[in-house]
Amino acid sequence: MAKYHWQSQNVKQSGVDDMVLLSKITEDAIVDNLKKRYMDDYIFTYIGPVLISVNPFKQMPYFTDREIELYQGAAQYENPPHIYALTDNMYRNMMIDGENQCVIISGESGAGKTVAAKYIMGYISKVSGGGSKVQHVKEIILQSNPLLEAFGNAKTVRNNNSSRFGKYFEIQFSRGGEPDGGKISNFLLEKSRVVSQNENERNFHIYYQLIEGASAQQREALGIMTPDYYYYLNQSGTYKVDGTNDSKDFQETMEAMQVIGIPGDIQTQVLQIVAGILHLGNISFIEAGNYGQVESTDLLAFPAYLLGIDPNRLQDKLTSRKMDSKWGGKSESINVTLNQEQANYTRDALAKALYARLFDYLVESINKAIQKPYEEFSIGVLDIYGFEIFQRNGFEQFCINFVNEKLQQIFIELTLKAEQEEYVQEGIKWTPIEYFNNKIVCDLIENKLNPPGIMSVLDDVCATMHAKGEGADGTLLQKLQAAVGTHEHFNSWNSGFVIHHYAGKVSYDINGFCERNRDVLFPDLIELMQSSEFNFIRSLFPENLNTDKKGRPTTASSKIKKQANDLISQGTFADQRRYLFLGPGLDSYAILTAETWPCWRGPEQQGVLHLLRSVNMDNDQYQMGRTKVFVKNPESLFLLEEMRERKFDTFARIIQKAWRKFIARKKYEQMREEASDILYNSKERRKNSINRNFVGDYLGLEQRPELRQFLAKRERVDFADSVNKFDRRFKSIKRDLILTPKGIYLIGREKVKKGPEKGQIKEVLKRKMEFGGISSVSLSTRQDDFFILHEAQYDSLLESNFKTEFLSLLSKRYEEVTKRKLTISFGDRLEFRVKKEGWGGGGTRIVVFQKGPGDVAQLKPGGKTLSVTIGDGLPKSSSSLYRRTAALLLKHTLRSLSSAHQNGGAKFPRGPHNPQADITYSSPQKQGRPLQGGPPKLGSQRGPRPPAPNQYNQGNLDFLNVPDQGMSGKVWFRPPPAPKPQPRPQGPRCRALYQYVGQDTDEISFEANDVLDLVKEDPSGWWTGRIGGKEGLFPGNYVEKI
Ligand SMILES: Nc1ncnc2c1ncn2[C@@H]1O[C@H](COP(=O)(O)OP(=O)(O)OP(=O)(O)O)[C@@H](O)[C@H]1O
Ligand SMILES: [Mg+2]
Repeated sequence: MAKYHWQSQNVKQSGVDDMVLLSKITEDAIVDNLKKRYMDDYIFTYIGPVLISVNPFKQMPYFTDREIELYQGAAQYENPPHIYALTDNMYRNMMIDGENQCVIISGESGAGKTVAAKYIMGYISKVSGGGSKVQHVKEIILQSNPLLEAFGNAKTVRNNNSSRFGKYFEIQFSRGGEPDGGKISNFLLEKSRVVSQNENERNFHIYYQLIEGASAQQREALGIMTPDYYYYLNQSGTYKVDGTNDSKDFQETMEAMQVIGIPGDIQTQVLQIVAGILHLGNISFIEAGNYGQVESTDLLAFPAYLLGIDPNRLQDKLTSRKMDSKWGGKSESINVTLNQEQANYTRDALAKALYARLFDYLVESINKAIQKPYEEFSIGVLDIYGFEIFQRNGFEQFCINFVNEKLQQIFIELTLKAEQEEYVQEGIKWTPIEYFNNKIVCDLIENKLNPPGIMSVLDDVCATMHAKGEGADGTLLQKLQAAVGTHEHFNSWNSGFVIHHYAGKVSYDINGFCERNRDVLFPDLIELMQSSEFNFIRSLFPENLNTDKKGRPTTASSKIKKQANDLISQGTFADQRRYLFLGPGLDSYAILTAETWPCWRGPEQQGVLHLLRSVNMDNDQYQMGRTKVFVKNPESLFLLEEMRERKFDTFARIIQKAWRKFIARKKYEQMREEASDILYNSKERRKNSINRNFVGDYLGLEQRPELRQFLAKRERVDFADSVNKFDRRFKSIKRDLILTPKGIYLIGREKVKKGPEKGQIKEVLKRKMEFGGISSVSLSTRQDDFFILHEAQYDSLLESNFKTEFLSLLSKRYEEVTKRKLTISFGDRLEFRVKKEGWGGGGTRIVVFQKGPGDVAQLKPGGKTLSVTIGDGLPKSSSSLYRRTAALLLKHTLRSLSSAHQNGGAKFPRGPHNPQADITYSSPQKQGRPLQGGPPKLGSQRGPRPPAPNQYNQGNLDFLNVPDQGMSGKVWFRPPPAPKPQPRPQGPRCRALYQYVGQDTDEISFEANDVLDLVKEDPSGWWTGRIGGKEGLFPGNYVEKI
């Protein structure tokens, strides 16, 4: 067997698509491969189940609808690696396995995580369906991005749109795979940015958006000035970002608030808080005799106005604080005046608290808009701030890098470590792979005791420090030195400490650690905001100050530690190592061989070996573990995967084919009905004609080049048949009549008179009629097959068995081309004009139709009149008899297909291992029908129903006029007719909505409006009923219960 490479389908090769295919997996080889691909504009590369993306910093052309289509439902090996492939895979796994999925996006700041997250959301939104409610949810999910980015992203030196918060976004789905809900969890917003930014960085985008985008009225109401006016914006001296239009973004932010359903008055309040913070920042303090004093009391009024608080009270709370003090046994509250530094700190604390609570409110309002009462399926996307190293790294970087360190842990747990542990468990021989397990770094940071980690030491110091604890940071550094000074990933330096992270060494400046970690909002400030005249602002400060005082306040680091660990223990990060091993049992690959499908009879291990051998896997390529089989080279596994995907592909094609056939049949059904409508009430029908189906081309033009030569190259044939044409003397001659969208062709045969082919009989185009030239068609009212085509020059008297079908198609095409209805007239005395030939000819002839014996027309020409006699046909009001339901049609087509496959083709998966197939086919497919209730009766033993032996032999497809040998097997397989059941007492009954003609001996037939006894309703859709003493099956949707 030829070994094929799983990538051979890719058009262009740049390095390898999946780096597990690298012969040596070293850092150099990986970087080299990524580079090669990057140079060729391939930003995506797999490494097993992990997708690596390299930021191209330019728009790549492969994110269009075309790619969305391409990756949808495609096998992994079919297309180059892509975020859409990963997303599609998640989506499909969720739907097929019914399991929640999650993608962790990690990478340093600016790597492209947020962009990737948005591609994921966009893809899901595009490929999933849903009604208007779902559309609304999708819109909110997509709109949440600009809103959260406006308030949570900022320009840093690493990334112009850097996420300054972590986000875990769950998109929730209905059982049908429609995104009908969602939930966002946000992590530790970098709120210090609200009050100060490093050089070349900005505050959160919303500030610049508001300043650039506010209307004149808003500027007035909110006191909008240029950004350099505000202390909270002018410290970094950076206001603009290349390629960002703050004014336009502002409109988008406001629109997003609208879509999310934030009421107009609250939107105003949101902006008021944003502006209020800016104005708050401009309140400065001077030192007056060891006390902080508001420098310019004029500046108090505006922020107080925007926040709905009393300016004096604001001044008071910024410069003094109530302190509880214990005096003797009593505790007493005293007012303490703050110094200048403490006052600045208090102001900033208020600004940060306002902003952070506002941000939480926005997240909550998104959640409210898309929350679901209960969860079904979900896909989670974790997009956090990436690992970062700056010139100066503070407490925020410490937290951010800690979260990234934790993520790396998850990654290791899910891949390397889990895999190697499994080898040990399974007793597999393997060479250990060296990898750095960063748990040691995580422990250094978060350990509670023995030795306490950095965060524990930090919390201890914070618990004992006072208001603004001067020297606390120094104490911290000392204590850290004592606690973890000898740790191999820790060093201290004069103004901080260094952590050796998995991603590199980062030196942290200890300055501000304690203050930022404490993160307490003094009750004074809460009280102040609770005095706001605005409901909305009061709702952001819901604390009950009388009861919430107790206990050690939570710190920023303990919060982030908890959030990070919650995230990991949520269990959302299920094992996704699809390619690393074969699961126990044979489920995934059982379809590969006939012996293993639907189930392997024998020991499981033998079954696995059988499968591996069936794909010719070399012995050294796998090892049998205790419960699993391990495949060494991923390529070998891809072989299995590919074989499996191909199998599924075949099945998909079968279903597709069935569907197409079904559609085609439906079209014919419709045509037939339309045809009988044409003749309805005008012409008697041939006794055998009504239920004949249409097929159109009765000449088989595909194989008739001598006829096709008169048509254009790919001209479509609507109808083709051999007809009788009558001349002026009513002599009949055979003509081939062809109808195409271009017109009507009449082809005859003549002897060649001259040339090398002299004497031979050749096809000649006798006549071509364009639709525009046809004036009408006339027919008799009797059951004969004559019709006259009236044309501008002269008329044609023709006779065809398939006139109804021809007329139906002709009138359709005629109407399409001429935009007029074709006139069809009926009469028993018809006139037709004959062709002028030479001197003679011209003039008209008459055909008279009369009642006579028999169903075959008798012709009697006499001079210029032809008389046609024929017996009575079916009444003129006969209409097409059965209108079938979709399910029934599908049943036939599927039945024929599945039977076609029994003839040597692939077996259609069936049986208990394939619930999908059960659901999809149970009603239409005959095999799914229930056996009749009760013990088997003598003479009616039923095994599984044998398939129809020939694909033409399906229900009512006999119109295809297949030669009889196609039916020969039918007799063989038919079960003997069921014995007549005993009459039963009257039970439930139903009335037939449509006629149903039994397709098999165990089915019953009935006419519309017949009343039948209902014996059994079966969920498969095949009910049992009794009529005229016969009991049998029929489709339940053909009747109504009475
Ligand atoms: N697939 C991409 N195609 C084109 N440009 C990209 C792509 N991914 C990222 N970029 C560019 O890189 C910038 C940074 O990407 P992004 O904001 O996603 O980084 P991030 O990993 O989320 O960083 P942070 O951790 O700072 O939030 C984007 O604003 C965009 O300009
Ligand atoms: Mg980001």
